[in-house]
Amino acid sequence: MFLKIDNISKSYGSNKVLSDFNLEIDKNELICLLGPSGCGKTTVLNCIGGFIKVNSGKIILDSQDITNYYPEDREVSTVFQSYGLFPHMTVLENVRYGLKFKNIKKKEANNIAQDMLNIVKLKNYGNKKINELSGGEKQRVALARSLVVKPKILLLDEPLSNLDALLRIELRAEIKRIHKELNLTTILVTHDQEEAFSIADRIVLMDKGKISSMGTVKDIYYSPNNLFSLKFIGSSNILEKDNSVYYIRPEKIQLAFSKDKSNAIIIDKSFLGALVSYKVKENNGNILKVTTLNNQDFNVGDNVFVSYNLEILR
Ligand SMILES: Nc1ncnc2c1ncn2[C@@H]1O[C@H](COP(=O)(O)OP(=O)(O)OP(=O)(O)O)[C@@H](O)[C@H]1O
Ligand SMILES: [Mg+2]
Repeated sequence: MFLKIDNISKSYGSNKVLSDFNLEIDKNELICLLGPSGCGKTTVLNCIGGFIKVNSGKIILDSQDITNYYPEDREVSTVFQSYGLFPHMTVLENVRYGLKFKNIKKKEANNIAQDMLNIVKLKNYGNKKINELSGGEKQRVALARSLVVKPKILLLDEPLSNLDALLRIELRAEIKRIHKELNLTTILVTHDQEEAFSIADRIVLMDKGKISSMGTVKDIYYSPNNLFSLKFIGSSNILEKDNSVYYIRPEKIQLAFSKDKSNAIIIDKSFLGALVSYKVKENNGNILKVTTLNNQDFNVGDNVFVSYNLEILR
């Protein structure tokens, strides 16, 4: 086990933000932390980074108990949503800053910083000022600065949430590439499930300071282990009956045109591009969310035949 978070707790006054929180991460894993606002994601990162002190429990990194280490002694780098770059320094100086306390000669530090700029695809940006950069470029600089020290763990706290949709997709692929190229161990906090799904080796879903579920993307999506995970991850139609919870994902429901054998009617439709999302009212009054590819085109008012197999939440 490369990183072991062993039963940590953190409270602010009477607010128990993390309680008996346990998480183990292997070397070279890319973990995504997901969960609703205020569930404690940033607090977990801050405990690992050493920016806040835990009330109890231990953090072991690469067989070393780092629980009481200063942040600068932990070999952990954090990238925040707000970049945290120095506006009066050039790009190269910002990246080199990470090496300031490492006792490395300036020329060598410049070379290392330049290598890192090449990796984040900002090869010719070294002499630019920070305020001459776009949001995406700034985030690449922040990434380069945190990587220049060769951290054992890279922590990313919603690094892409200030960027537009296209840039987010581009940069998340970059994060995945850099994670692989540098054999990093990475924890990424995100609000964006698609982002998490597209890059995570493993998803950790948090609820009120605890881990609600954990697993590969497919585990989390196809085998939710509780109602919170089912409701939080993706979209689903949920039916609670006789103390059991039944569900069906909108894309698992089949729709077909049917004049004489219809059992439902389309009552709402949203065109989402590649996908179309419908609300379908069954003859028994039940309303279902259904998603299809856009090559199947129904309209509001169409009588349809709807079929599906409910799954049971175990
Ligand atoms: N310095 C602090 N003092 C007091 N309470 C705090 C402090 N930092 C965080 N909290 C509380 O701890 C809880 C968890 O906060 P945290 O920032 O970890 O949530 P989060 O999951 O990162 O949320 P978001 O998705 O909104 O960033 C919240 O209830 C928050 O109010
Ligand atoms: Mg946060």
